[in-house]
Amino acid sequence: MLDLTHVRTILSEHYDLAPSQELADSMQDIYEKMDRVVTPYDFVIYAPYIKAINELKKTRNAVILGHNYMTPEIFHGVSDFVGDSLQLAQKATEVEADVIVQAGVHFMAETSKILSPEKIVLMPDMEAGCSLAESITADGIEEMRAKYPGAPVVSYVNTTAEVKAASDICCTSSNAAQIVAAMDSDTVIMTPDQYLAQNVANDVPQKNVVYWPGSCIVHEQYTAEDLNEFRKYNPETKIIAHPECPPSVVEASDFSGSTSGILKYVHDNKPKQAMLVTECSMASNIADELPEVKFLGPCNMCPYMKKITLEKILYALHTMEGQVEVDPVVSEKARKSVEAMIDLSRKLGI
Ligand code: 13P
Ligand code: SF4
Repeated sequence: MLDLTHVRTILSEHYDLAPSQELADSMQDIYEKMDRVVTPYDFVIYAPYIKAINELKKTRNAVILGHNYMTPEIFHGVSDFVGDSLQLAQKATEVEADVIVQAGVHFMAETSKILSPEKIVLMPDMEAGCSLAESITADGIEEMRAKYPGAPVVSYVNTTAEVKAASDICCTSSNAAQIVAAMDSDTVIMTPDQYLAQNVANDVPQKNVVYWPGSCIVHEQYTAEDLNEFRKYNPETKIIAHPECPPSVVEASDFSGSTSGILKYVHDNKPKQAMLVTECSMASNIADELPEVKFLGPCNMCPYMKKITLEKILYALHTMEGQVEVDPVVSEKARKSVEAMIDLSRKLGI
């Protein structure tokens, strides 16, 4: 566990991180991207961290890959590339940097390391896990293979390297249905997200999709009853859900897609009112770009994603601690599953 007192002591010895109005004033171009959701008082606190991180990135020849669930000061302030799991994995194969800082959760950093073993991949907090990744081990994959002999295993990228290595191909929420549809078998095993699998099964009825009983602690909390009740009083609102939600929730929504799919839907359709049935930072990160859209309704925080902070990113870049390592044999096998997904996605134009 990161000792925050130690982190703060080290940082204070090397950086002037005192809140600074003058510095914040000189960084208005960055603040303008988040001024509807970050108060000027908070930005005065963030500004010295953003400045220090952006300078240190140059010294280290580092890039920050930021997931769509990062808070606005990370998403807009320090990330070089932002996106969903598939886009970040694709980026990890393309970036020319010595260091990748993964502003996301551990499985994303492992995926970057698998795809770019020669790069240093930093995880600002090793405890930023994922309930889906924790729900299954490689033994679980073998259990499913024994139960459904010959069926290919499609594993969500929200898994450990060992699970990826034991699978035939990976998928993300933006390509899951197409990948399952492309499998050369009537029965397809999907792990570990039971709800994503059930949603895919609805979209790909020609396949018999069998699945592992994992779930996302953020998306499993939504219910169709809540959404229908919300719609009754807000009939104008477009309800947009992530496919990690139960199928009844997806059915009660107007649209379902990956985190980037959700952002694209809001950009393209610009509804007057929208409820994003997913993690809270999603709406915050586009509030400034789309002031004409009013975001309503509840959202849920991912406690893992929220472990990543500016302070921890700066500490990781300063000390180069938090390097993600993957056993080379496991990595080589896992890479085949991830690359199979990337290659098939490119072929399918996703
Ligand atoms: P995306 O691939 O849609 O970004 O999803 C990742 C994730 O963890 C959502 O909970
Ligand atoms: Fe995992 Fe859910 Fe958090 Fe995404 S939102 S990282 S699936 S726990």
